[in-house]
Amino acid sequence: MSPSTTRQITLVRRPTGIPLADDFALVEVPRPVPGPGEILVRMRVGSCDPAIRGFLDDRPSYLPPVAIGAPINGMSLGEVVESHNPDWPVGTLLRTFAVWSEYYVVGADALGIEKVDQAPGVPLQHYMGALGPVGLTAWVGLFEIGKAKAGETVLVSAAAGATGSTVVQLAKAAGCRVIGLAGGPAKAQMVRDLGADIAIDYKAEPDLDAAIRKAAPEGIDVYFDNVGGETLDAVLPLMRLHGRIAVCGMIAQYNDADNPHGNRNLWQLVVNRLTMRGFITYDHPEVLGEAQAVLDRLFAEGKLKPLENVRSGLEKLPEAFIELMSGKTTGKTLVLI
Ligand SMILES: NC(=O)c1ccc[n+]([C@@H]2O[C@H](COP(=O)([O-])OP(=O)(O)OC[C@H]3O[C@@H](n4cnc5c(N)ncnc54)[C@H](OP(=O)(O)O)[C@@H]3O)[C@@H](O)[C@H]2O)c1
Repeated sequence: MSPSTTRQITLVRRPTGIPLADDFALVEVPRPVPGPGEILVRMRVGSCDPAIRGFLDDRPSYLPPVAIGAPINGMSLGEVVESHNPDWPVGTLLRTFAVWSEYYVVGADALGIEKVDQAPGVPLQHYMGALGPVGLTAWVGLFEIGKAKAGETVLVSAAAGATGSTVVQLAKAAGCRVIGLAGGPAKAQMVRDLGADIAIDYKAEPDLDAAIRKAAPEGIDVYFDNVGGETLDAVLPLMRLHGRIAVCGMIAQYNDADNPHGNRNLWQLVVNRLTMRGFITYDHPEVLGEAQAVLDRLFAEGKLKPLENVRSGLEKLPEAFIELMSGKTTGKTLVLI
């Protein structure tokens, strides 16, 4: 790559179902030049997030769709290499919503932009995982939205995934009883190893409702929902009076957004006086400082172990994302650049 170019991953066509390698292209384009007040950033850690699947469809999401031929949007951890902004000097490490590009230009008002304070000896990629957006999402959903308290029963779906594996550990550290749902015996064992009181391999359960009822005979206080769909339907009647459902995501329908599951049990919101609330982590800046401090402390105490699925090289972003959207990964899917 010449010093005046950058490599990017662009969208060739809109995926149908699980994305395919041919939906993406690796291209070399002129390196962007920062204007007044802007900075040029070199990507160090790229993040694969299920939400990106929504940006690849031509439909409204909480961010506009990626245009055909444009670079894929996603969270990135990078280092400032050229600066026209004294608040963001060369060498600053930052996280921001950006594009899958080795070099990109952002302004100080970029979505989610924040400085990263890497502690000595802590691998940089953790700041894109359990010590970054993943941990913050788990904390906000569990405590700000779900209001989880010591002694309560917390159920989390996709419990071996990035967010779920962090929720398991944060809920245990807060004194909750934790039940994790995960697909397959290896994932279920991983969830137990992270400290969950019970892990259910939902793919092996002919009657998920009965399996959760057995695990939580008194009911669920907080359901941290990562998947939506049939699982949400199974959980709704098992919630306790005044239970809370923190709706983090509905990955079960991202690959087939034209055919969402029709939930049948929403009446249970009334029966059990439930609160069900969706959230986007960065809509809660007022609690992120406290959340980050808790994550850092638990990590230092060895009570938060980041679970990661790591590759190297910008060109690996599509295959890492495809693996994530195929349900095959455990922990946070990251690509080191
Ligand atoms: N609200 C926010 O601010 C925010 C921020 C970050 C993430 N999220 C959401 O949180 C959820 C988890 O995200 P994550 O980054 O932590 O991902 P993840 O859990 O690491 O990975 C996805 C996992 O979801 C499960 N899954 C269930 N149905 C699936 C399907 N049809 N296709 C693919 N996977 C399926 C799989 O686990 P099993 O094999 O165990 O089923 C899979 O391994 C997503 O819904 C995401 O959109 C929300």
